[in-house]
Amino acid sequence: MQDTSFAIHPGKENQIEGTDYRDIGNVLSIEKGETHLNLECENGFVTVLFYSDDAARIVMNQKHSPVLDESFAVIQTPENVHVEYEENENSVIMKSGSLSVHFALEPLRISFTDATGKPIVSEGEKGMGHSAAGEVICFKNADADDHYYGFGEKTGFLDKSGEKMTMWNTDVYAPHNPETDALYQSIPFFMTLRNGRAHGLFFDNTGKTHFNMRKDQGTYFFSGESGQLDYYVLAGPGMKEVLGNYTVLTGNMPLPPKWALGYHQSRYSYETESEVRELVNSFLEKEIPVDAIYLDIHYMDGYRVFTFDEDRFPDPKKLIADLKEKGVRVVPIVDPGVKKDPEYLAYQEGIREGHFCKYIDGAIYHGDVWPGSSAFPDFTSDAVRDWWGNKHTFYTDLGVEGIWNDMNEPAVFNETKTMDIAVMHDNNGNPKTHRELHNIYGLKMGEATYEGMKKNLGGKRTFLLTRAGFAGVQRYGSVWTGDNRSFWEHLQLAIPMCMNLGMSGVPFTGPDVGGFAHDANGQLLARWTQFGTFTPYFRNHSAIGTVRQEPWSFGEEVEANVKKYIDLRYIWMPQLYKLFRDASVTGLPVMRPLVLEYPEDKNTFNLSDQFMVGDNVIIAPITAPDMFHRAVYLPEGKWVNYWTKENLQGPKHILTEADIQTLPIFVKADSVVAHGSPKQSTAVEELEYQLHVYTGDKGETSYTLYEDDGETFGYEKNEAFEKYVQFSYDRDMLTVTTEQINQTYTPSWDGITVYLYGAGEVTAATVDGNRVETEISADGVVKLRIRR
Ligand code: GLC
Repeated sequence: MQDTSFAIHPGKENQIEGTDYRDIGNVLSIEKGETHLNLECENGFVTVLFYSDDAARIVMNQKHSPVLDESFAVIQTPENVHVEYEENENSVIMKSGSLSVHFALEPLRISFTDATGKPIVSEGEKGMGHSAAGEVICFKNADADDHYYGFGEKTGFLDKSGEKMTMWNTDVYAPHNPETDALYQSIPFFMTLRNGRAHGLFFDNTGKTHFNMRKDQGTYFFSGESGQLDYYVLAGPGMKEVLGNYTVLTGNMPLPPKWALGYHQSRYSYETESEVRELVNSFLEKEIPVDAIYLDIHYMDGYRVFTFDEDRFPDPKKLIADLKEKGVRVVPIVDPGVKKDPEYLAYQEGIREGHFCKYIDGAIYHGDVWPGSSAFPDFTSDAVRDWWGNKHTFYTDLGVEGIWNDMNEPAVFNETKTMDIAVMHDNNGNPKTHRELHNIYGLKMGEATYEGMKKNLGGKRTFLLTRAGFAGVQRYGSVWTGDNRSFWEHLQLAIPMCMNLGMSGVPFTGPDVGGFAHDANGQLLARWTQFGTFTPYFRNHSAIGTVRQEPWSFGEEVEANVKKYIDLRYIWMPQLYKLFRDASVTGLPVMRPLVLEYPEDKNTFNLSDQFMVGDNVIIAPITAPDMFHRAVYLPEGKWVNYWTKENLQGPKHILTEADIQTLPIFVKADSVVAHGSPKQSTAVEELEYQLHVYTGDKGETSYTLYEDDGETFGYEKNEAFEKYVQFSYDRDMLTVTTEQINQTYTPSWDGITVYLYGAGEVTAATVDGNRVETEISADGVVKLRIRR
């Protein structure tokens, strides 16, 4: 019926803010603790506490005192924040160093101001409340010029102002479009940019939640169909500080193994051992780099996880070892559904040891997925996660180092697309329904997989790709954006989608390059690969029954084009790896919207078709057929065309030429890009580290090189190579000064080649005070070597 006009029948208007909304009401009593403030109100109980000077948590429970220790997303333990109170007849103020929470008492309304006393979040006519059906809701005042970013994996443009969104992890195979709402990931976090200043709001609720950012009533609101109203306000003042505070709360991405940053090739499915070997041989013969090949569901015996089909893959151990020798990892898919089969070990164990999700009466829930009727591990229980994690010795014993988790919304082939919401989760003895915990199924499966693999690999980094997740998913894995199609529109859609995932604490993301369903064509694959070169996650994947999509599938010209860009990925690897390292420490994404760097520039507020890699490179992908020019916005300052080295002055919209071989790339003047050389895979040692210095009017810039072994957790013990290099290019002299920050890891390369662009007058150079030789090419590029 949803597909007919019945969907807009007048009798169907059904909104939580409708008739039975019950406001929290007046404050009846106040209890001011050293760290917590507790309020009893006419229609509920509220607790407020600080996690740090920059993060305050508000919890409302309409029935009893708020429960404070049940978060799946938050890993930060509240710091001992010194709070001070101010009080008068009608209000109370609770203050940390940077945030003040103001409580108006009749009725309760909560507002926040920053360290300078400026309002950041406020409530007006409406505040918190709930409905008779148990939904919780919170209204906040909205400004006409608010811009909203984050919300995880959503279709549409970058700025979510005016949008309504639902969080309910959903397997959407129908073509994603601007109206497609709930997708595979739920990240109920966003930040508001208001007059150049930012703050964040994280609604920590694991059931179905709604965000209405329409602002037409002067408010926006968020609501949850189950659970408490539990949210955090995170101070800025800038977007970067908000994101930093959010990832302190929910955790950062661990640094992935370097091979995970390479080019990956997938298909649903490479069905046999010989097909996989041939595929890898083609990459080697054609000298197209590749770091990983994926095994989709056909590798299994009847889609039973933790098995291989013995006819198709007679000796997986040998296959995996042979490929690893060639620098290629094998990543098998692992779905949560365990086939109902009394003769199958994983099912037997799950039943015997009580690992599967059950109804309240003890009956095991079964749902149809690839293998037919299947049971689903209850990942909310520590014991189940341990069991599942340990089962991955099946893969690690065969030499597998990375796992692909799919269908973990969980997806079920039925009308609701998921598990019965009446199913209970054990939740370590604190049972809750699937309705309440749906959105964390994928997160907890990811945790089980990541932790199990990590343990089994004994000190080597593992790689996890997951389709579903919740706030905090970055702690375990990278996220691809699910079943897109080989549509130009889906190439366009992926840009803001990945940028907003980055603005939601998830830096390691990318779409299926070339598109999953539907048939790709050569031009689309070429343009999509150009884009994929600069998305944090870079995998070509396509569906059963679609035309082949490997780099050579569309003739030699496309192959050369695609190879050029896969090579470019490896050339840029030192720069990308350093950005991944930064992301793992600061939470700032590798792939960024321009607004993150230029929050004062209104041209960036909803700029959805170009992005930045780090803070100094703009990528402007071509996303339409037969398009060989495009408009690019360059913010203030001088920019350099990466290919032609032409200087461009921002702020300005330019029309740039982009023949089929060209992805428009612009580098900010007075900045540095680190490069390596093209190679078959990341397993090939880097022999040449290059720093490309784009000079500008400032006359100076600097770069901090970062390298480590790329495969162990040594970096957590600070085993790395870090060197700070400062360049001054004032008139004819280039002065380089270096500082060794960390030398506990020795890189494979021993010298650094510096290329200096746009410094026509430079004729001589010194490095740390010593005169060094320079070469100056005919087009004025200055080249010199500095020691490691
Ligand atoms: C789902 C995944 C897709 C995969 C397919 C078969 O549709 O999203 O990537 O290839 O299942 O496993």
